[in-house]
Amino acid sequence: MLIKRTPSWAIRESEATPEAVALGRRRFVGAAAAGVAAALGASKAEAGWLFGSDEPAAPPEKDPTAGLYPVKRNEAYALDRPVTPESVNLGYNNFYEFGTTKYIASAAQKLPLRPWTLRVGGLVETPREVGIDDLLKALPLEERLYRHRCVEAWGMALPWSGVPLKSFVEWAKPLGSAKYVKLTAFLKPEVASGQRSPLFEWPYVEGLSIAEATNELAFLATGAYGKPLSKQMGAPIRLVAPWKYGFKSVKSIVSVDFVEEMPRTLWAAAGPSEYGFWANVNPRVDHPRWSQARERVLGTDETRPTLLFNGYGEQVAGLYKGLEGQKLYM
Ligand code: MTE
Repeated sequence: MLIKRTPSWAIRESEATPEAVALGRRRFVGAAAAGVAAALGASKAEAGWLFGSDEPAAPPEKDPTAGLYPVKRNEAYALDRPVTPESVNLGYNNFYEFGTTKYIASAAQKLPLRPWTLRVGGLVETPREVGIDDLLKALPLEERLYRHRCVEAWGMALPWSGVPLKSFVEWAKPLGSAKYVKLTAFLKPEVASGQRSPLFEWPYVEGLSIAEATNELAFLATGAYGKPLSKQMGAPIRLVAPWKYGFKSVKSIVSVDFVEEMPRTLWAAAGPSEYGFWANVNPRVDHPRWSQARERVLGTDETRPTLLFNGYGEQVAGLYKGLEGQKLYM
């Protein structure tokens, strides 16, 4: 997803090539990047951030939680479409810390995953820090099939493994004065070249109201496709809020703060006329620059009608009673 002040040479994802032809484009983009980078006097790393990179991936680190997967599926969460092939998901990602294209998988391998400490603070009974491996032992994992709808009008469907955010909130024991949960991603500009770009206020921040966070659908994913999360998908822990546009689902979280004020989020700060806090999926509220009426189904040639709340209205519509005056859908 992009904002208006994105330079004119950046690729608009609303015009993105279907992933079936992406590999061909990737080769072209690599060559174009080298030329543009040379013209701009940019380094190879900077060109990689702008255009994606074909750098070979580092060998994967040993994941001490790998033995926990696959986890038992919660059959209450079913799909109206086939699961998107894992290979599509692994090769088509939004992760601006590592690049502005969808082809950041190899760059994301630079993110070290251990030690990984989650800091829980703000309005809680006791602020604490917990290692990801201890957290996974403390909370019960389950698998859920969810749809995923990006604001760029493409969708996927996938099996997430993780914990309901509600269980995490109960474990964190927020005070009654907390109104929002603020989720913050890692900040490591030394490995994430995107974080050296002044286009965004880093680190990536997102948030939910407490009512949203304790809704049954809100989920902290630590795995997908029966395995620990891949780095490009947001390892070791990310939010999944399937009734909202995908940018709400912050990847690679390092802190969770319970706060009284609505958090200032990365996208709302970068493009306030295009991206808001609530960002609920709605086919009738267009993005200022493109329609939201339909979505491309990744991994197929299909498009489908977009569903209100991405099809999860039964579970979440009630959360917004009394908030009708706010921009709930962008
Ligand atoms: N989280 C971080 N930290 N950085 C990002 O750039 N992109 C968001 C979201 N979470 C993003 C992020 C957007 S725009 C989308 S659509 C989803 O991650 C994409 O998740 P996926 O790559 O697993 O499909």
